[in-house]
Amino acid sequence: MGKMWWQNSLSVGIDLIDNQHKQWIQYYNDTVEAVATQKSQAQVMKTLGFLIDYTGTHFATEEHHMAESKYPAMAEHKAKHDELRSTLAGLIKDFEEEGVTPELNKALETFLGNWLIQHIHEIDMKFGAYAKQEKIVIS
Ligand code: FEO
Repeated sequence: MGKMWWQNSLSVGIDLIDNQHKQWIQYYNDTVEAVATQKSQAQVMKTLGFLIDYTGTHFATEEHHMAESKYPAMAEHKAKHDELRSTLAGLIKDFEEEGVTPELNKALETFLGNWLIQHIHEIDMKFGAYAKQEKIVIS
């Protein structure tokens, strides 16, 4: 499971959202570190908990601003968030039952790491473009 780093190509053009993505990456990296260094189950659980809580905060922020700005593709965007919310709930359950397994490790990388990058590029960018086009100020 590898760490990830912020790059300008991930910017959606909205500082609030970019900053949340940066924080999300930090929590993700903290989880990677805890798993890689074989921290105790309680410590891994703590970092995973921060990551999952922050994911919820971030999704709620985006959904709030999409609703406020009457973003036409909000339903599609929110559906992607809901998919990940469900996946995260499953990961936590697996971790509570089995601890850090190779499957969990892979799932963290695949579902979280790859998902976030792909989601930003394919989904969040569209909202950023809409906000720019409509001259919507988000702060
Ligand atoms: Fe930045 Fe749609 O999550």
